[in-house]
Formats: sequence, structure tokens, C-alpha cells
Amino acid sequence: MNASTPSPAQNQASTTSLYGGVTNRRVTVRDLAAAKQRGERWSMLTAYDALTAGVFDEAGIPVLLVGDSAGNCHLGYETTVPVTMDQMVMLSAAVVRGTKRTMIVADLPFGSYQESPAQAMHNAARLMKEAGVGAVKLEGGERSARSIELLVEAGVPVMAHIGLTPQSVHALGGYPVQGRGDEAAHQLLRDAKAVQQAGAFAVVLEAVPAELAAQVTEQLAIPTVGIGGGPDTDAQVLVWTDMAGMTAGRVPKFVKQYADLRAVLGDAARAYAEDVRTGAFPAAEHSFH
Ligand code: KIV
Repeated sequence: MNASTPSPAQNQASTTSLYGGVTNRRVTVRDLAAAKQRGERWSMLTAYDALTAGVFDEAGIPVLLVGDSAGNCHLGYETTVPVTMDQMVMLSAAVVRGTKRTMIVADLPFGSYQESPAQAMHNAARLMKEAGVGAVKLEGGERSARSIELLVEAGVPVMAHIGLTPQSVHALGGYPVQGRGDEAAHQLLRDAKAVQQAGAFAVVLEAVPAELAAQVTEQLAIPTVGIGGGPDTDAQVLVWTDMAGMTAGRVPKFVKQYADLRAVLGDAARAYAEDVRTGAFPAAEHSFH
């Protein structure tokens, strides 16, 4: 077998659960297509560093997204808009290094693909060659279809993102629910079909009414990944810092918080500081003699 021949493991889409079925290689777009055929739901989380990504990989999360939500959830910006390609490459490479099995999807940040399909291709290639990700994500339906087509023709798996597109926060005047009303619902369906037609392997539906997300999911052959799209999409994604309770302040209505890491970490830091103050740390067992 030469370097370009896929191994038997790479050649086979998992026919069992995504969680238990893929143990000796990374999850691929074919596994996700097979999961849609079986009607199996799957989960995606964001990740921005090697350590956290490793925890999610071990937990069996089949797809991790190096989202440009890194802007507000990791890098301290107010929105995703300032995130650069260099930052995305650095964070994505760390997530790839920290994982073995999960598929890594990286966001093309604002300004890195909107100019032209050629610009999208240039920056998608950077994420694949310099960071080693398995797929890229970009925002926009009909307006991004030509770029998706070019990337897919060139061998880049593309996840599309429609509904609420956070890179347009300034044009939208915030983060309003999308697809409400007949005209907006028809546009969302047109966007979903356009990205599927262009070759996207999956599409994120953000902040859209549950009934509309269900309708899109039924009409598409590719998996839909909901975030604020109700219970009937093929997959769900959450920002990890929201899901685990690391985010300060209010989180969106669609978030379920599965842990309170902010409190756990704060308590640990306070206990450590108190031990240092009182001399309880370091004790004999932490010292060399
Ligand atoms: O950047 C991100 O985290 C995302 C998810 C909200 C889907 O795009």
C-alpha cells in the first residue's frame, strides 16, 4: 500500500454508532453521512486548545469545531469579527495535536473568504496544510455557494452555517432569531438547498424556529447541526464554555449548562491562595530534601 492508498479502516464508513464505532482513525464525512442514513444523532462541541480538545476526544465527541467563537470565548474579544487567520491556524493546530479520533472542523473567520472563492480556497488550504484540520466551516447560504463549490471541487470538506451568522453581528444589529415569517423561512430553505447543492457535507442552523429547522432537516440529504434550532436536527453543537459553565454572565436561551466549571476553578484558586497565605502549601510531600 503506498502513501496515497487509503487504509482499509479509512475506506470504511462506520456502520455502528459514531461514539463506539470509530476507534482506530478519525471520524470522516462518510461516517456522518452514514449516521444520517441510520437516523443516529450526534454531538459537536467547540474547542480552542489541545487539553480541552483531548478531554472531548476521550469522551467520544465525534466532531470538534475550532469556532471563531474563540474570539469571545477564548481570546477576550466582544465578537467573532476581530479573529484572524493566523489565530485560527494556531488554535486549530493545537486542537488537532490534542486529539486522535474526532473530526476537526475549523472556521474561516470574518474577512478570510468573503472577497472571492479564490480567497476562500487560499485560506482553507492554510487551515488544512498548516493546522491539519479535516474540514472548514464558513457562514452564508446562497451568497457563499460559489466558494463552497470551489472548495469541494478542490477536495476540501465544507460545513456550511446559515440562520444566525455571528460574523454579521453588526449588520444584524445583534443576534436575533432568524427565519421568522414566510419570506425569511423560504430564504432559509433556499440557503439550505444552495449549500447542499454546492457540495457542503453538513450545515449548521443557528437560532431558527424549531419547526423550520425540522422542515430543513427533512428536506436535506446532508446532516443538519442545530444550535438554537430545537430537537429535530440531525446533530447538535454547543460552545464548550457555555456547555460547561465557564462563560461569565448570561448565556443564550438555547444553552444547557452541564457543569459549573467557573465555580469549581474559582474555588480551587481561592483554596490555593489561602493555603499559600497560611503556609499550608507547600507541605512536606510537595518538597524535595
Ligand atoms: O464559532 C462557533 O462556535 C460557531 C458555532 C456557534 C456553531 O460557529
